[in-house]
Amino acid sequence: MKQYLPLIDKALESTIPTGDYGEQRLIDSAAYSLHLPGKRVRPALTLAFCELCGGEAQQALPFACAVEMIHTYSLIHDDLPCMDNDDFRRGQPSNHKVYGEDIALLAGDALQSMAYTTMLSDDAVKAVGAENAAKAARVLAEKSGLLGMVGGQTIDLMSEGKEPNLDTLRVMDEKKTACLIEAACMMGCICAGADDSKVAAAERYAHAVGLAFQIVDDILDVTSTTDELGKPVGSDTQNEKSTYVALLGIDQCRRTVDELTEEAIEALSAFDGDTKELADFAVALANRKK
Ligand code: IPE
Ligand code: IPE
Ligand code: MG
Ligand code: MG
Ligand code: MG
Repeated sequence: MKQYLPLIDKALESTIPTGDYGEQRLIDSAAYSLHLPGKRVRPALTLAFCELCGGEAQQALPFACAVEMIHTYSLIHDDLPCMDNDDFRRGQPSNHKVYGEDIALLAGDALQSMAYTTMLSDDAVKAVGAENAAKAARVLAEKSGLLGMVGGQTIDLMSEGKEPNLDTLRVMDEKKTACLIEAACMMGCICAGADDSKVAAAERYAHAVGLAFQIVDDILDVTSTTDELGKPVGSDTQNEKSTYVALLGIDQCRRTVDELTEEAIEALSAFDGDTKELADFAVALANRKK
């Protein structure tokens, strides 16, 4: 998946306005978080699923950027004092520590609308066809909104300090984290014009990878270091978060991650092309150290 990273970073770079728009501090704030070295997991998945379904990575690039913009906005807001109150992100001070809470909030808002202007630009729509572009945009809106990521973030905040319950935790992680990863994978298929059964298989892969991703994130919050992660460890304990780790302990969590990774790999059997790289990626994400 590493082959996609320069492509993604270059495309993200080109989405930041360079003219004199007057709101330079807002633009700088959005660019700051977008250009920090995230792992780019979601946009890489968009490109990989597009290629798996017979499309070209280039076609899906604006859609990949859009997912990364939504993800970056969610991280800026997630770090705000009214949410997780974390001062580091991607190895640097969090957006609000550099630009202030007001601009950080607005930079998140701006990144959200930039996601839609990027994937619905004339060139992007032309490359995948209007119907596919509309479908992909709708998937991103649904998966990132009220019933998806934002809904999950709400459950996360409302569950602080409460006795965790496995069903609630699962729904919370499905929404706050798996949903956006589902959007990333589904949008890649849609950009390539794949049929609904392929889109549904991508959603199944991403659902399992996404749940595992959040459980690993919660494990690393306990077992890693701030240096390695580029964000504060111990944040979940400090905020009395309800997590799989708090409920089940690390060993059971690792087993659940392995089961989910198997599930993800099974979902790939619906595709005709070579799925080895996506299978290996699921394993690599399960074993990631940051
Ligand atoms: C962090 O996501 C937030 C979660 C959903 C767990 P990533 O671990 O993908 O963060 P970056 O993009 O690499 O910074
Ligand atoms: C984040 O979950 C989920 C988002 C939608 C941003 P976390 O709060 O655990 O993410 P980190 O650990 O701060 O990256
Ligand atoms: Mg959070
Ligand atoms: Mg957080
Ligand atoms: Mg976390």
